[in-house]
Amino acid sequence: MPPTTDESARSTNPSPPSGGAETAKGTTPPPSGPGNPEGAVWSDTDLETLHQDGQKAEKVRRMFASIARSYDLNNRVHSLWRDQAWRRFAVRQAEVREGDTVADIACGTGDLTEAFARTPAAAVIGIDFTHEMLQLADVKKARRDPSMASKITYARGDAQRLPLADASCDVVSIAFGIRNVQEPERALAEFFRVLKPGGRLVILEFDRPRLAPVRWINDFYAGWLMPRTATLISRDRSGAYRYLPKSVGSFMSRDELLSAIGRTGFEDARARGLTLGIVACYRALRPA
Ligand SMILES: C[S@@+](CC[C@H](N)C(=O)[O-])C[C@H]1O[C@@H](n2cnc3c(N)ncnc32)[C@H](O)[C@@H]1O
Repeated sequence: MPPTTDESARSTNPSPPSGGAETAKGTTPPPSGPGNPEGAVWSDTDLETLHQDGQKAEKVRRMFASIARSYDLNNRVHSLWRDQAWRRFAVRQAEVREGDTVADIACGTGDLTEAFARTPAAAVIGIDFTHEMLQLADVKKARRDPSMASKITYARGDAQRLPLADASCDVVSIAFGIRNVQEPERALAEFFRVLKPGGRLVILEFDRPRLAPVRWINDFYAGWLMPRTATLISRDRSGAYRYLPKSVGSFMSRDELLSAIGRTGFEDARARGLTLGIVACYRALRPA
């Protein structure tokens, strides 16, 4: 089932995302200076209030555009090769049935989209608002077995205004994306709208480990070590790997996200911690 409105565009179309904030103001980088090196998307001050930043969407898009090429490598290395296992867990939670339509939102370079395409699903639509990430997803797709790749369609679009018809999907997923969305509640409402009654929502997101010693180690790793090594690998100047731990630490807690999912109208919302609680996988149903 292809995307339905003209907001959707093949990933090779460099038009701005729907509702995009590609305004002169949004695209002008902040002046460089202490705490804000040249090329940075986020200043130190921005990072303290990033979820309230009115320019968050545009900054997130610029940040992913700048790290796209090393994104997969950094994921593998810094998750100690766990990230694909987390995505496979999410796919199992979705209980995909023969002929299902899956929409993978904030699909990035397509790792979760591809994992869904290996199930009996008939069609998998990957949607993201960063052209550079979708370009890489398309390159990867071209290298895959045609029987799997032919199920996948990539389209440019905003999680807050999906280019999909009401009740058109059996599964909606979002991996490591909901935290990056300007207004997560708006995205949840969109996920509800496009799911069929009885459809499954699956969310993967970083979490704060509950066990104190694990949390201390993870804080050191994600807050100090990883920003340095990931920045080296990607030669990043955007500040993406300083943004990552800050955005996880200040995003909704597991209980808050479960409540937000419930408030949207989903039922049976539950979460499972993965890898000592570093990541959580949420699953909920649109009532039948
Ligand atoms: C951390 S990456 C996750 C990519 C992929 N899901 C994965 O598992 O690797 C986050 C992605 O969310 C996308 N994104 C953030 N906000 C978005 C929005 N409002 N609409 C669409 N995509 C968005 C970014 O462009 C980026 O590709």
